[in-house]
Amino acid sequence: MDWGLKNRLAQIIKPQNNRALMLAVDHGYFLGPTEKLENPKKVIAPLLKHCDSLMLTRGVQRTSVDANTDTPMVLRVSGGSSIIGDDLSQEDITVSIQDAIRLNASALAMSIFVGSKYEYQTIVNLGKLVSEAEQYGIPVLAVTAVGKELGKDARYLSLACRVAAEQGAHIVKTYYCENFEKVVQSCPVPIIVAGGKKIPERDAMQLTYNAIKGGAVGVDMGRNIWQSEHPVAMIKAVKAIVHQNYNVDQAYKMYQKLVAEESKRTPKSKGNKPNQKKSKKQNNQKKQNNQNKPQQKKSKKQNNQKKSNKQNKPNQNNPKQNKPNQNNSNKPNPAKK
Ligand code: 5RP
Repeated sequence: MDWGLKNRLAQIIKPQNNRALMLAVDHGYFLGPTEKLENPKKVIAPLLKHCDSLMLTRGVQRTSVDANTDTPMVLRVSGGSSIIGDDLSQEDITVSIQDAIRLNASALAMSIFVGSKYEYQTIVNLGKLVSEAEQYGIPVLAVTAVGKELGKDARYLSLACRVAAEQGAHIVKTYYCENFEKVVQSCPVPIIVAGGKKIPERDAMQLTYNAIKGGAVGVDMGRNIWQSEHPVAMIKAVKAIVHQNYNVDQAYKMYQKLVAEESKRTPKSKGNKPNQKKSKKQNNQKKQNNQNKPQQKKSKKQNNQKKSNKQNKPNQNNPKQNKPNQNNSNKPNPAKK
């Protein structure tokens, strides 16, 4: 293997333990402003030093990542469809090799859509990209993206991963699944696992642990890190599983400890109280609700009624009248059981 290619691969998969923690922030390339990734710069800054590499598009790299970083970049070079378009699988190569080199990419990433309408196009593109990237010693990460109608079982993922490896991909990204070992065994290049949709933190740690136990070199995780309420604590815990062989209990304890420390450090007024700050949408909703509320101003009749109720109020000093209300609505209602 060429020295440059070997060196770049070593930046992504650490040779000391053959493990990798990649942080994925490339979602906007087809999803637009994904929830909690609306401002990539803010999301990336505190996480950058905790990952081994960052997977992103050139637009986000140029606008939202400090160029002084020593974190390696895995540059997504495919695209062409969006979530509201006709077919997500219709992707092409959108970044030239010259631009990738200018951006000092440590690896190039592109998706292949095995079994989809544009399977041929994406697989041929992968072959071409590998040929081109190898001329410059740059490794290629193939993302085995799945269409809506395709399952994510070991049979399908083994096929997709193997197809990618046969085209010369140096690393393959896929999903964790039942019998994941089979996917790994039949793929001659390292496999890295995508995090997938946001799930509870402990479950994402379990997924990481299972993936590594099943033979993956690590995870390329996005939403389960930056959609967490505590992204830094989450990435540190995931990293401990990937690089320090923590089990799920140890990692989750570490996460809880970090969250507790974080909340001690963060002053209450600065958003430590959940849901304190209302969004514009919430405020408008509140206004609207108030407008729909029945008239607040009391009529003369209602005021007189209130006065007479006050007069009938039990005497606070009379213990007899202070007896608990027999019709107390807090009493358990047997019918509700
Ligand atoms: C999108 C991608 C993402 O990078 C990948 O899915 C990882 O992110 P997440 O952990 O959120 O699934 O390749 O096509």
